[in-house]
Amino acid sequence: MDHWQRVVVRRNKELRIFTLNSVMKRFLLVIILVAVLMYAVLHTNVWKTNDYWLSYRTMERKNVLNTCLRKPAFASLLNADKIYPFLCSNDFLKVAAFHGSDKFELPYGIKRAESNFHLALSRLESCELFHKDDGEPCKKCIVVGNGGVLRNKTLGEKINSYHVVIRMNNGPIIGYEDDVGRKTDFRLFYPESVFSDPIHYDPNTTVVLVVFKPHDLKWLWSLLGGQKINAKSFWKKPALNMIYKTNQIRILDPSIIRKTAHEWLHFPTRYFKKEKPKHPTTGLIAISLAFHFCHEVHLAGFKYDFTDRNSSLHYYGNETMSLMIENEYHNISAEQRFLKMLRDKNFVVNLT
Ligand SMILES: *[C@@H]1O[C@H](CO)[C@@H](O)[C@H](O)[C@H]1NC(C)=O
Ligand SMILES: *[C@@H]1O[C@H](CO)[C@@H](O)[C@H](O)[C@H]1NC(C)=O
Ligand SMILES: *[C@@H]1O[C@H](CO)[C@@H](O)[C@H](O)[C@H]1NC(C)=O
Ligand SMILES: *[C@@H]1O[C@H](CO)[C@@H](O)[C@H](O)[C@H]1NC(C)=O
Ligand SMILES: *[C@@H]1O[C@H](CO)[C@@H](O)[C@H](O)[C@H]1NC(C)=O
Repeated sequence: MDHWQRVVVRRNKELRIFTLNSVMKRFLLVIILVAVLMYAVLHTNVWKTNDYWLSYRTMERKNVLNTCLRKPAFASLLNADKIYPFLCSNDFLKVAAFHGSDKFELPYGIKRAESNFHLALSRLESCELFHKDDGEPCKKCIVVGNGGVLRNKTLGEKINSYHVVIRMNNGPIIGYEDDVGRKTDFRLFYPESVFSDPIHYDPNTTVVLVVFKPHDLKWLWSLLGGQKINAKSFWKKPALNMIYKTNQIRILDPSIIRKTAHEWLHFPTRYFKKEKPKHPTTGLIAISLAFHFCHEVHLAGFKYDFTDRNSSLHYYGNETMSLMIENEYHNISAEQRFLKMLRDKNFVVNLT
């Protein structure tokens, strides 16, 4: 063979190796594609057989609950099972099926009130957790109860220093700034307890409706649609106007209250006909809410002085402890025991 012949033979050899290489590459590519496809099919099938298929957006929303990588002190309380606190109009039925809320009637589920939930949610503009997120992944929160212990403690500045301040009902700020602070990120309410005087309006607050009866949803739907309110179905006169903007309003997922009542306070799941069912107080529901998205939870204004019936119930107004002792809707002793456990295990820090 002369030089040129040898070159041609080598070229042919290289060409064969080259084509063999590209065939193998294509073969590998096909194998990888098939594997990816099979993984996807299997994965969705596993979800579907559970009947709990949650959309990508629902899963993504839940991720905002896990921005902090450090374990909170109260992690064992949640069993890694965090509930996204607010209902969204596009998937609340799926989420209810996922958490089992479709098997309970109000106040702890949506059964037989689905259409009321649908109507009220359709009037809301947002179900986002944070109005304006400060970008802090590990949130230090304070839940401010309305207890009389807050009087003259000048905790206001301390309360303002938390990432998230959660308050409830019509506990006022105006005139009490020194004792209870000014900042309010969340305020839990029901129709009979929400501010109706615009003097209390705060553009930085997200207000969260705690639904106890179907009428609460009708009330919200009517108010936001500019219709008249029928005040008959309420135990106390409800607010007849809404001072908050639609994009500030959320509806709490009843699963959070159910978990509080059944798992944490050990309330019975059934009552005899003549028995008055006990429900958690808004204060305890607020603490429960905080556990679902905060990394650290502090409390203020949660201590009741049962030894003195004349001591003031709230940090505002004239009501006395005797009102709480006679309350037939709540089980205060069960709640006090739960709060004591939270303090004893250092799950929370109590400022008062
Ligand atoms: C709180 O302080 C005010 C004024 O300093 C006083 O009039 C009031 O009696 C105090 N209240 C309590 C509960 O100590
Ligand atoms: C709302 O937040 C803004 C910006 O953080 C602040 O300047 C304003 O004072 C807040 N308003 C109230 C009523 O707290
Ligand atoms: C509580 O108030 C009532 C009436 O206002 C009064 O008769 C009673 O002595 C008070 N009790 C205490 C322990 O101060
Ligand atoms: C509390 O009582 C005082 C006098 O007893 C009264 O003037 C005041 O209006 C009462 N405040 C409320 C909020 O009921
Ligand atoms: C309150 O709850 C406890 C259980 O935590 C129970 O033993 C007690 O009987 C309840 N009290 C009432 C009045 O329901």
